[in-house]
Amino acid sequence: PRRIIIDTDPGQDDAVAILLALASPELDVLGLTAVAGNVPLPLTALNARKVCDLAGRPDVPVFAGCDRPLRHDLVTAEHVHGKTGLDGPDLPDPTPPLQKTHAVDFLIDTLRREPKGSITLCPLGPLTNIATALRRAPDIAPRIAQIVLMGGAYFEVGNVTPAAEFNIYVDPEAAAEVFGAGIPLMVIPLDVTHKVLVTHARNEAFRALGNRTGRAVAEMTDFFERYDREKYQSPGAPLHDPCVIACLLQPGLFTGRHINVEIETHSELTRGMTVADWWRVTDRAPNATFMGDVDAEGVFALLTERLGRLP
Ligand code: BDR
Ligand code: CA
Repeated sequence: PRRIIIDTDPGQDDAVAILLALASPELDVLGLTAVAGNVPLPLTALNARKVCDLAGRPDVPVFAGCDRPLRHDLVTAEHVHGKTGLDGPDLPDPTPPLQKTHAVDFLIDTLRREPKGSITLCPLGPLTNIATALRRAPDIAPRIAQIVLMGGAYFEVGNVTPAAEFNIYVDPEAAAEVFGAGIPLMVIPLDVTHKVLVTHARNEAFRALGNRTGRAVAEMTDFFERYDREKYQSPGAPLHDPCVIACLLQPGLFTGRHINVEIETHSELTRGMTVADWWRVTDRAPNATFMGDVDAEGVFALLTERLGRLP
């Protein structure tokens, strides 16, 4: 199996991504590293552990990482995800303890210890943990097989400002460092995730699985979707972060271009914008495969089948 570390700020859609990964035998999840994002760090670390328990995988270690972005104050998204970050289902307190090691140390130690090119990082939140690890241990960069992340936007532009997507906006300096590190990068932007909508019928399919995971996911989405329904008159909630895991499992569901993507860090107006050279109008070197389209039916078929394998 492909060995991955999921860096995350759960978040209902993060939770579904984690569940999809834990349900998939093609992936070996070495650990979850929590970061401040949708809600403050103590809650994202707690939620990550609750999700492991829900999946019947209390053995997956969860590490707490950075509690604030590199330069700016933390911006959170309780208006989308609720006060706990994981509003919707009533999940019990987690049984496994939080690991004592800091997430950044776990990332560095694991990447140094394991064979070069054997570990893929899957960031689903602001890139603070990853950038901090790269700052502290630049030698890990060539050891990372690939980074597959959810973040950014091009045609769809922003969901937190007119120009920026939440994960990149919250820590643009971290994003700029990660995008500039020369690591093979695959980016799933809003252009893709806004096509992966949990309609009523798709959510009922999760509920109809008849297991506790299917029920919990349906309850998460019931909560999560009300924001998008009100804000965008959207027919369902976008499943942003699960696209990262779906892309690892079935890359053929996604199409994109290998292009140059730069992060705006200076402008007040467009801070956190992913300036994607989709039409290759500059001679800046490509640094990312930036996805543009997705087979949403395929993603839901995969997700529904996999969630059915969990308790
Ligand atoms: C991203 O922001 C968060 O609210 C979601 O979990 C996702 O990672 C979408 O912009
Ligand atoms: Ca997230």
